[in-house]
Amino acid sequence: MEKFRIRGGRRLAGEVQVSGAKNAALPCLAATLLTSEPVRLQGLPRVRDIVTMEKVLAALGESCERENGTTRVVAGSGDAHHAPYELVRTMRASVLVLGPLLARRRRARVSLPGGCAIGARPVDFHLQALARLGADLRVESGDVVAEAPHGLAGAEIEFPRITVTGTENLLMAAVLARGRTVLRNCAREPEVEDLAAMLAGMGARIAGVGSPTLEVEGVEALRGTDHTIIPDRIEAGTYVIAAVLAGAGVTVTGCRPAHLHALLDLLERAGVAVETSNDAVTVPEQGSPPRAVSATTAEYPGFATDLQAQLLALATQSRGTSNITEAIFENRFQHVLELKRMGAAIDVEGRTAHVHGSTPLDGTTVMASDLRASATLVLAGLVARGDTVVDRIYHLDRGYEAMEVKLNALGAEIERFNPGPYR
Ligand code: EPZ
Repeated sequence: MEKFRIRGGRRLAGEVQVSGAKNAALPCLAATLLTSEPVRLQGLPRVRDIVTMEKVLAALGESCERENGTTRVVAGSGDAHHAPYELVRTMRASVLVLGPLLARRRRARVSLPGGCAIGARPVDFHLQALARLGADLRVESGDVVAEAPHGLAGAEIEFPRITVTGTENLLMAAVLARGRTVLRNCAREPEVEDLAAMLAGMGARIAGVGSPTLEVEGVEALRGTDHTIIPDRIEAGTYVIAAVLAGAGVTVTGCRPAHLHALLDLLERAGVAVETSNDAVTVPEQGSPPRAVSATTAEYPGFATDLQAQLLALATQSRGTSNITEAIFENRFQHVLELKRMGAAIDVEGRTAHVHGSTPLDGTTVMASDLRASATLVLAGLVARGDTVVDRIYHLDRGYEAMEVKLNALGAEIERFNPGPYR
């Protein structure tokens, strides 16, 4: 099982280029099921979850070809409708094929995604809303079996709680449903907007993009399109935090600072000097550690739960006590125990982590538990005394393209190695 060995204390300087957003690429790949015409997607990040989604699409009769680097042509064919467990269990976002399969092939069999390290991750909101569009749904030996023999019919739907992939699934179902669908209490993440932009390019009729209410007029069929995936705001935010922690002048390029407002506001409150342009964030070398700040994760445009773990790493090096509350997931503090093993002073009370900084961190062997926790352990390793070995970095490879390559180009000293079996 591959690991990282990180030599602490190296200063980072230079430019790092952000890749395409995994959480936009996944729904956009699923949306290719909505048409029989070829779709070309540019800017797909080279990460494991994208490979998994392409395998799911292949199991559904789609063919993904790589063309000059990052463009892939995905031509729809056949009427396969079963997304198999062995793929879905490795990536819960496979549930995103449910809406488009129902919309165009009128049936779907998708393994119920299991929970994961950060929580139970149910999909009840997705299923309830699809039933409102006229789908018959049942659970059969761990699979969701869904049918809509007469097609889907528009309806008014209000999500009980904001759900990102729930919004995306229902948007993809509604674009081919008969008549009008109104979706209320929708997620407003930039990745939802990117999917809506791609669907509009395919001929879908969607109003209210960027607001909590989406109105969709169903159409008979959708055409192919060329679409470029937006930059990954979570990868960008991760490198901005790395720059604050260990930077001697770092520019994060190819990103959209507008998608990072909550983080940039928080850094301003912490006394961190940051400069932005239309597609880059520059973090000059900081003269002193950041001030402790408190934050609560929230749906966009609030502070992203996917940056909570990274903020905790920064908080260990901030002056004072930071109170960071995780309001989205019920179990997203797995990284706290590993940070404490490195010397961090953190008390968790319910959903709030009280981080007492700044404390020197000592390199040791730590274990990644989920995608963003892995990134946090890498960040901590950058500023720790001595070497840090991060185990199970397959979590990292799910959502960060060549993280060690990008950080080493900035001056970090990270070695990816595999100690062989049984270790
Ligand atoms: C998306 O997950 C992201 N994944 C997650 O990123 C991200 O953390 C999350 O949104 C929140 O921003 C993708 O986009 C592929 P939710 P999703 O539905 O859609 C509860 C990463 O690191 N809920 O918005 O699964 C749920 O349990 C990943 O890239 C229900 O109860 O999250 C959670 O508490 C991790 N029933 C809350 O709502 C449902 O049917 C928000 O979940 C759906 C959700």
